[in-house]
Amino acid sequence: MSSIHFYLITLFPEYFSSALACGQLKKAQEKGLLHFTFINPRDYALDKHKSVDDKPYGGGAGMVMLVETLDKALQTVPSGAKKILLSPQGKLFNQKNAFNLSKQREIVLVCGRYEGIDNRLVKLHSLETLSIGDYVLNGGEVAALAVIEAVSRLLPGFMSKEASFQEESFNNFLLEYPHYTRPEEYKGLKVPEVLLSGHHQKIAKWRREKSLEITLKNRPELLFQSSLNSEDRAFLQEINEPCLGKNLYLTLLHHPVLDKFKKVSTTSLTNLDIHDIGRILRTYGLGGYYLVTPLKDQQELAKRLLAHWTTGPSSKLNKDRARALSGVRVASSLQEVVKKIQAKTGKRPVLVATSAREGDTPLVKMRELLRESPVLLILGTGHGLTPEVLQESDYILQPIGFGRKYNHLSVRSATAIMVDRILGEFF
Ligand SMILES: C[S@@+](CC[C@H](N)C(=O)[O-])C[C@H]1O[C@@H](n2cnc3c(N)ncnc32)[C@H](O)[C@@H]1O
Repeated sequence: MSSIHFYLITLFPEYFSSALACGQLKKAQEKGLLHFTFINPRDYALDKHKSVDDKPYGGGAGMVMLVETLDKALQTVPSGAKKILLSPQGKLFNQKNAFNLSKQREIVLVCGRYEGIDNRLVKLHSLETLSIGDYVLNGGEVAALAVIEAVSRLLPGFMSKEASFQEESFNNFLLEYPHYTRPEEYKGLKVPEVLLSGHHQKIAKWRREKSLEITLKNRPELLFQSSLNSEDRAFLQEINEPCLGKNLYLTLLHHPVLDKFKKVSTTSLTNLDIHDIGRILRTYGLGGYYLVTPLKDQQELAKRLLAHWTTGPSSKLNKDRARALSGVRVASSLQEVVKKIQAKTGKRPVLVATSAREGDTPLVKMRELLRESPVLLILGTGHGLTPEVLQESDYILQPIGFGRKYNHLSVRSATAIMVDRILGEFF
């Protein structure tokens, strides 16, 4: 029988009394699955006042737990034990950590108090640091209890039914579906019919879909880590916020842009940009993509090229490309693009300029904007957008590769990265 011995380094051993004396944690101790030892750093204090803390070097509010008393406390635990410091600066504790820890036989949990502990303890005892969430507690005891519960319930024999944790939230990075029990109706609210049908396949499908729906709504970032099949993906695409992608418009300016001497100039069309940004438009279901050039011959060229792929000889041979390019439009100025979007949606689009050199609007801000109104992402050619266009825009997006020594991406690559970071896979 596997068991775990927890060693708690805490100034408040009494904190754990009631939590460990009831429910399954109590039963697990009676069965011999769990053992607890409490070690109080105060018992190792060096002075007559039993001090365990002192003022921080470098100044600042609060007190810091002394390294020496904690070190002495830690010297009393078995040498092979896994040692963990609970700290808001630690890695976020999750179900995967809980599963890995459930394989350990001896776990030490160091509970900080005050402003935290003297950091030298981390190195001295090779402590792993874990946080239970992005908030600050008074001490590590609550966090330690959270770790104890999450780890213990994964021990074979802890739960009455082994299968129950297989389906719980966070297995495969999905949140669990909702549960119902008797009565069938309460204050006019009925239990979903499918759960009363006795049809196991339908129930399983309903539960899977609810699980996906709840995860998308409350923790969409988890979906990037879960293994999803094509049915799951199709369901997520169906229920997501389609308005987000539809509200995003792209425009590629060939004028006004800067040349390498920082003079305002006009660039020529690039076939690759037309195709590749058109394909981004279709993949993410965007509202539209406008090529901007004031030059009549360039406009004609763009139209001929688009017609070749959308209605001409290549349209039948490559239907996917025809679909991608059928969303591409040609305009003679940025103002004309703004007017066209306004006419189509009834709202002036929010103008978001892009640059490889400046801008401080985080990409996540775009999601907020897209929920409210159409947004026009302005992309430049040549040596980038002019200062006037940047100034007239409502926002300038943070450059891709910001802070790197080299971030000269092609506009089509930068666009793909931006759009994916803005909308992600499920938007
Ligand atoms: C008041 S907190 C110290 C906060 C610290 N000054 C900071 O801002 O990161 C005191 C102790 O509570 C524990 N603690 C607080 N929040 C925690 C969290 N979210 N996860 C794990 N432990 C936490 C840690 O042991 C910490 O040393």
